[in-house]
Amino acid sequence: MRAQAQPHVHIDDDRFRVTEWRFAPGAETGWHRHGHDYVIVPLTDGTLALDLPAGQQAQAQLTQGVPYSRREGVEHNVINASATAPLAFLEVEVVDDEIAHRRRATMERLMAAFNARDVDGLMACMAEDCAFHAAGGKEVEGTIHQGRAAVRAAYAAIFETFAEAAWTEGSHAVAGETGLSSWRFVGKTREGQIVDVRGCDIFHFDGDLIALKDSYRKARI
Ligand code: NI
Repeated sequence: MRAQAQPHVHIDDDRFRVTEWRFAPGAETGWHRHGHDYVIVPLTDGTLALDLPAGQQAQAQLTQGVPYSRREGVEHNVINASATAPLAFLEVEVVDDEIAHRRRATMERLMAAFNARDVDGLMACMAEDCAFHAAGGKEVEGTIHQGRAAVRAAYAAIFETFAEAAWTEGSHAVAGETGLSSWRFVGKTREGQIVDVRGCDIFHFDGDLIALKDSYRKARI
């Protein structure tokens, strides 16, 4: 049995996780998979022994102050190969893909709720303080629906207007607080008019939830 390397978390926010790892001689991290891109900054010189998948082994030299980077998905057990000298490094993980993943999941849930004509499901994707700017309307922004009651009524009105409605070919991207969903909308109004256009939503997020859904659709002429 090897001793365990000791982690100490210095920073853990929605952007970075910074962990100092201290290894006694012969200590190991145990097997782990890196879920994020990361940078290692050696705090000491040293030699790492690496247990790798499929029984492979490797060694890596650490030089104090000389960093290296690795991508998400690395899987290994890291051991201080020295029998006498302790070893330490800082691990800097870029974790802001976590909130981006959750925001993208919200966008996928919203589109699924539109297709399910599920107003409760739609509102579960919206922040407490939310707004919907419609694709059309008298305002520069399109018709502005502000607040949960107004947004809920506006979403319900879409299903009132369109007896049939499908949002397909969804593509979702997140950049910081902003999300972009593009889609193709095919709907049939209660009067029988067919609408078949591409469009997009620009979202502003509050945490994982949507504070603003700002909608755009092609105008076919
Ligand atoms: Ni590792």
